[in-house]
Amino acid sequence: MIKPFEKPIYVTKPYLPPLKEFYQGLEEIWETRWLTNNGPILQRFTQDLSTLLDTDNVCLFNNGTLALQIALQGMGISGEVITTPYTFVATTHSLFWNKIRPIFVDIEPDFYTIDPEKVEAAITPWTTAILAVHVYGHPCQLDALAEIARRHKLRLIYDAAHAFGMKIGNKPIAHFGDLSMFSFHSTKLFHSIEGGMLTFQEAGLKGLFDYLKNFGFKNEVEVVMPGTNAKMNELQALMGIQVLKHLEEIIRKRARITEVYRKRLTEIPGIHLVPALSPDIQYNYAYMPIEVDRKEFGMSRDGLYEKLKEWNIHTRRYFYPLICDYPCYRSISVNGSLAVARRVADRILTLPIYDSLELSDVETICEILQFLHHKTSGKPMVGTEPARL
Ligand SMILES: Cc1ncc(COP(=O)(O)O)c(C=O)c1O
Repeated sequence: MIKPFEKPIYVTKPYLPPLKEFYQGLEEIWETRWLTNNGPILQRFTQDLSTLLDTDNVCLFNNGTLALQIALQGMGISGEVITTPYTFVATTHSLFWNKIRPIFVDIEPDFYTIDPEKVEAAITPWTTAILAVHVYGHPCQLDALAEIARRHKLRLIYDAAHAFGMKIGNKPIAHFGDLSMFSFHSTKLFHSIEGGMLTFQEAGLKGLFDYLKNFGFKNEVEVVMPGTNAKMNELQALMGIQVLKHLEEIIRKRARITEVYRKRLTEIPGIHLVPALSPDIQYNYAYMPIEVDRKEFGMSRDGLYEKLKEWNIHTRRYFYPLICDYPCYRSISVNGSLAVARRVADRILTLPIYDSLELSDVETICEILQFLHHKTSGKPMVGTEPARL
């Protein structure tokens, strides 16, 4: 008999560097007593990221949400911005906090990123920018969006919260669009406990972002603009530096987990996987989304989500509900039917994935899914019969 997991399997678990390495870093902080305000460790972390991403235009923040809010303010974005309802709420909140009107358009059905055709159809004289999301790390349709932005003279901003560590044809994903925001929250494959980063094309924005994240201070006596406090501290930067050293290993392990999931899940009717990404994309394996077809699988997505909890498997319904369905955004403009986004939001489930998840546990999760299909649909077992059934 397959048994529920003894310890809960959560959708994610943060990577932690070896404790000895972290102690060594802490000793430096204890020595200098420099805890925040552009300290030496933050400067080193910024340099490491700059080297990795091959750009000097890097600015770090205490989280991704404030980074995005500051980006929009610093770039002077106003009026209407075309965006996706299929994302984490912070994408839209950053617009709202800047008094910008989000215009939600539909996504495409394969990778769930914003549909460029729908973007173009929603442009009005008030549109100033496109805010697209590399959801799950799936790159948006970069060329199509760049072309629309160029033709209509719009700024192209990427919420790349999920896309750290990715390259397109050997070029870091940070190089696409006018600006990208990356989140270093602990739930992400790469993290600095909490943290955020902006990368951008226009070098002049760096000074502006530095002011905006530090109260607008130019020096001890001059405040040049009404900034906020969005600085990354030394402990966050230390964690970031140390996790960064293990980035390749983290991605490699996640790739292996994804491979096992994909191999096993294709055997289960009613579970739909994202198509293979184009070979020129170096993916980061940030999430493991599946779509559940109620009829084929024998149980609804919500039914499965609840049932899996009984097996001590804690999945997430990322991203459900759609942002435009939250009461605070219900009265905000939606362009078109959002039929794809609605369908996906009703079927999506993200499965556990993190570097320390054992492959044998991934196999067990797949066996449980297969068993639940078999039990609820009444259909015969398909594919490899689990040994323990
Ligand atoms: C798509 C997306 N945008 C923005 C954010 C906000 O980032 P943070 O948590 O670092 O503020 C997150 C996640 O946390 C996210 O998933």
